[in-house]
Amino acid sequence: MTDRTLAGRVALVTGAARGIGKAIAARLAAEGASVLIADIRQDLAEASAAELTGDVSALAVDIGSDASVAAMCDSIAEAHGRCDILVNNASILDATGFDALTMDHYLDVMNINQHGAIRVTRAMLDLLRKGEAPKRVLNIASIMGMRGSVDAIPYSTAKGAIVNFTRALACDLAPEGIVVNAIAPGFIDTDMAKLPDGSGHEHQTDWFQDIYLKYGRIPLRRAGLPEDIAGPAYFFCSDDCRYVTGQIMLVDGGVSATF
Ligand SMILES: NC(=O)c1ccc[n+]([C@@H]2O[C@H](COP(=O)([O-])OP(=O)(O)OC[C@H]3O[C@@H](n4cnc5c(N)ncnc54)[C@H](O)[C@@H]3O)[C@@H](O)[C@H]2O)c1
Repeated sequence: MTDRTLAGRVALVTGAARGIGKAIAARLAAEGASVLIADIRQDLAEASAAELTGDVSALAVDIGSDASVAAMCDSIAEAHGRCDILVNNASILDATGFDALTMDHYLDVMNINQHGAIRVTRAMLDLLRKGEAPKRVLNIASIMGMRGSVDAIPYSTAKGAIVNFTRALACDLAPEGIVVNAIAPGFIDTDMAKLPDGSGHEHQTDWFQDIYLKYGRIPLRRAGLPEDIAGPAYFFCSDDCRYVTGQIMLVDGGVSATF
């Protein structure tokens, strides 16, 4: 009997070269899973795989490309023959205002942030159906998929779609015992939260410090860390998550509890 609860499981985490995905990969590996870090930044994915403890390897993928996703699946099929845990985490931030938004740009962002998770899940389904281990799909949405925000049409729309993709997919896959859930993170201190002008992180700005910390729009009065997402993510990937499906957990320090 092992106390490593995911020993023997194969887990794929997209966009795990850094940030939230990397923290989730680290946690799943610490629980004994063989973790595949799949990222468009192969250099960074390899460095992170080498840095993390446990059975962690890197794969190159562009979740915006059918061919790239198919190649990733082929290499997982060859190396492992199945997948037990799929975490759809990769995405890009986009802060284009609606007036400046072109349809081409909108569709480019949707192709990664919405269609990417659907593309990867479709392509991985055969591998998720193989083997006897409990099967888990976890999507990383955002509080911006639950609420509106300025200059965020493609990002918010895609994340809203991920929220309902999670619910609908949970219904479709429930007969096979595959559970599907999502985490909607709040403000998490990662590279995604860096200011476009390179002057630091969004969380360090005066307005963020005032509104979210001083006046308590984040009741827990701090930005989140990637590790704050990794614990709930572990639950959704674990055997304990056997009667929870189609759910969206907001991990946001309480932002959504206030107004
Ligand atoms: N940081 C936050 O405040 C926050 C809040 C809510 C939701 N999220 C979500 O959490 C997830 C992780 O975000 P993060 O903050 O760690 O961001 P991040 O930018 O640090 O990491 C995203 C990773 O995805 C990879 N990636 C981007 N495009 C890709 C593609 N086409 N194919 C494969 N990999 C690709 C990047 O190389 C990077 O390693 C994302 O889905 C993001 O939308 C983040």
